[in-house]
Amino acid sequence: MNPRPLVAGNWKMNGLKAAFAELSAIRDAVSQFPKENVDFAICPPATLVSAAADMTRGTRLKIGGQDCHTKISGAHTGDISAAMLADAGAAYVILGHSERRADHHESDALVRAKAEAAIRAGLVAVVCVGETKDQRVAGDTLKVVEAQVDGSLPPGATADNLVIAYEPVWAIGTGLTPTAADVAEVHAFIRAQLKRLVPDAADGVRILYGGSVKPANAAELMAVANVNGALIGGASLKCDDFIRIAAAYK
Ligand code: PGA
Repeated sequence: MNPRPLVAGNWKMNGLKAAFAELSAIRDAVSQFPKENVDFAICPPATLVSAAADMTRGTRLKIGGQDCHTKISGAHTGDISAAMLADAGAAYVILGHSERRADHHESDALVRAKAEAAIRAGLVAVVCVGETKDQRVAGDTLKVVEAQVDGSLPPGATADNLVIAYEPVWAIGTGLTPTAADVAEVHAFIRAQLKRLVPDAADGVRILYGGSVKPANAAELMAVANVNGALIGGASLKCDDFIRIAAAYK
């Protein structure tokens, strides 16, 4: 059986309180979504998580954070723990996004420790992996993805607490996407790797594709084998685009 798809939005550092209008439109639209067995999430900036969770409580739209600390609390100025996100009402947290790996020098080991913390707090960890353009051109895509999955996968991962997002760095925010065949190759590779690492959970773990997912390409990308949903950046900021992407699962 295929895992239940997850259509998730990553708002990144976008969104003031005015964005609640868009969030409530998304909440209402996904509540009308014809297919029951599709999950939805929006990961707004941390400042909006608590109010967003209040606005969506009991609906089909879940809320996520975009990062968390490895510890539950302590002297870490500016950081947010997984327990705090859970307390604010989040259900998911994105970890190891390429922008954090690049801007904050996050290593696989750190991402793994964050994912462990997320799981301990009862959140679903959405662990991101993906190659740069240079790595793809050099033919290193599978090697890079293998090392990232190997290094970032938390112990105790199950189909319920772990999601993997394959996001080629060169496709993020660029309008470029890999071919369906390239996506199929990487997703099948990750699935096979999961079968080695977490044999009992492997078939159920959602593997999302992310990187310039748009209404125009969503149906093709979501139809690829082992693609179990999308992690959407720019196009998740507008209800209309988000829902037209989700329509790939109608
Ligand atoms: P994009 O971002 O859809 O704007 O390319 C995806 C992501 O970074 O998660």
